[in-house]
Amino acid sequence: MGFGFASELEVRGGRRLEGTLVLQGSKNSALPIMAASLLLDGMSVLENCPDILDVREMLAIINGVGGCQGEESCGFTNEGLVLFHNKVDGVPDYESCMRFRASSILMGALLATAGFFAMPYPGGCKIGRRPLDYHIDGLRALGASVEEKDGMLVGCAGRLKGGFYRFPYPSVGALENLLLAAVKAEGESVFENCAREPEIADLCDFLIKAGADIDGAGTDTIRVRGVGRLCGIRFKIPGDRIVAGTYMTACAVAGGNIRLCNIEAKRLECVTDLLKKTGCHIFTDGNINEIIILSDGRRRALNYVETGPYPGFSTDMQPQITALSAFSAGSCRIRDRVFEARYSTARELEKLGAKVAADGDSIIITGGESLHGGIVGASDLRCGAALVIAALGIHGKTVITDCAYIMRGYEDIQRDLEQLGADILWRTKKEGDAGGR
Ligand code: EPZ
Repeated sequence: MGFGFASELEVRGGRRLEGTLVLQGSKNSALPIMAASLLLDGMSVLENCPDILDVREMLAIINGVGGCQGEESCGFTNEGLVLFHNKVDGVPDYESCMRFRASSILMGALLATAGFFAMPYPGGCKIGRRPLDYHIDGLRALGASVEEKDGMLVGCAGRLKGGFYRFPYPSVGALENLLLAAVKAEGESVFENCAREPEIADLCDFLIKAGADIDGAGTDTIRVRGVGRLCGIRFKIPGDRIVAGTYMTACAVAGGNIRLCNIEAKRLECVTDLLKKTGCHIFTDGNINEIIILSDGRRRALNYVETGPYPGFSTDMQPQITALSAFSAGSCRIRDRVFEARYSTARELEKLGAKVAADGDSIIITGGESLHGGIVGASDLRCGAALVIAALGIHGKTVITDCAYIMRGYEDIQRDLEQLGADILWRTKKEGDAGGR
């Protein structure tokens, strides 16, 4: 149902998943690439761009700052997401910026085009403090002045100058901001202790194809030499590694045999390794970008899982593995070393009978007991997806509320899982009150 008014999912679990799914494009690759399009002259077309709420928010902002409206605005076509702009204004829509985290990536793009920006702190999943100090310090290293005034972030720069910045922590968003500020700056920039996530390599791939001069993408040191002009291009957004990991984990919980297409297996090796340890059989084919996973529905416990920067285990897969651990034979200590407050899934799983204990900066989840159906609420994007995974493993009816969070990153989780044989339906709160099916 996608962006309909449905905000709840009703799942009757206990069914194996079987079949093939072509994966949507990556949210966390598409969003910075959309911001980057503001630096390009002429039109760009993003093939395989996911039609999700966060992309729609970024699109509204780009149309606004790019002076496009009505018939003349950027949008989805049968070729992909078409992006262009008539000019670039440095004041993006206030409300839109507050609704998601990726609006923070606009700071670098607006400094490099409009020469200034004024915007609120970004919104996004409440999974930790999520400050912007690395973004701000890094932009200042490139000659920008950035101030925080009355809850607003205000930045300006004449012409940005190449500079040096060593990240205190390999922040994905802060690096994306600095890359967008550096590609047309005067001179050379060097960034150290960089994030190595595949989404960074995708952004650099897009910028290089548009004419940027970047070395070291995907490594911890990136060198950028500023150029005068970047031109619009056609670019295919790679498959979403977190959506792939989500559906693989769903198969591990429900049992079954699914094939995922349009995903480069190397991007989620850490997830594959963990799922193999639980007893799943996984086959990958690098030539055709496919992953096959088989699960008999019985799962060995993982004992300990810790998240970290890529190529470590992704924090965006932590809620899903938490859900899996509630069905495994034994206990697992889970420690999220990226976002300190990303344990809301465990609290919701307790409502379904899971055994969860907090222990310092970790949680310990003990599987084995069978969980029971009930009503749980998504508190953020990946928590919502994890609760759907848990519901697939429960014999009985589970309702997940506040599923608009899930639509921020999954084109249509109900459509995808139903295609694999799950008994899952969108419903509005009113339908639910009337007792649903
Ligand atoms: C990106 O968020 C992703 N979002 C997140 O995915 C992902 O979890 C995260 O990277 C880590 O991989 C998008 O790409 C839109 P960070 P980002 O800056 O850039 C601290 C999802 O579910 N930090 O790499 O905001 C920060 O608090 C989302 O798709 C600072 O202290 O993450 C965190 O502890 C959730 N100061 C750590 O660094 C800063 O200035 C990593 O954050 C910036 C970050």
